[in-house]
Amino acid sequence: MIRASLLLLPVLFAACDGEPPAHLRVAGGDPARGRAVALEYGCGACHVIPGVRGAVSWAGPPLTEWARRGYLAGHLPNSPENLIAWLRDPQAIAPGSAMPNLGLSEAEARDTAAYLFTLGAGRVPQVPAGLPLGPKEAGPREEPRIRPRA
Ligand code: HEC
Repeated sequence: MIRASLLLLPVLFAACDGEPPAHLRVAGGDPARGRAVALEYGCGACHVIPGVRGAVSWAGPPLTEWARRGYLAGHLPNSPENLIAWLRDPQAIAPGSAMPNLGLSEAEARDTAAYLFTLGAGRVPQVPAGLPLGPKEAGPREEPRIRPRA
């Protein structure tokens, strides 16, 4: 029984990934190759990246459900162009950041961006990258009620 439900886990996770909406699609990027690039360059030494073997480090921010992220490095709208620029030269965008320049080629950065934008793509709210979400767009999340003590 337990084993049967474990078998379902990848299916459940896969349901959140897939084809990103138009504004997050990376022209000419190959997600399968991007995943291989992330493994090869050791991104997992600093990041949690679903689907990349051994990418379980919390030294940097987790890249789970990346397609849902509004901002990149805290200030750039999370668009394909900005992500590619970041992957090629993070130090130009955030000088002194703990993320080093890893020397990705333009093609490698494109492929990696294409892979990251598949993560959580099935759950992207329908607002353009970088715009703040409206009150009801982030899903149900009621303010917790604070009950006065009796
Ligand atoms: C030595 C550790 C390290 C390595 C290796 C590394 N990163 Fe990072 N990465 C970081 C840190 C730290 C940040 C946060 C930087 C900031 O916001 O200034 C970051 C930020 C990012 C961001 C933006 C995250 C956000 O929440 O804004 C992405 C995307 C990213 N890294 C992808 C990658 C990819 C892909 C690779 C491999 C090609 C990689 N990183 C390799 C440390 C690393």
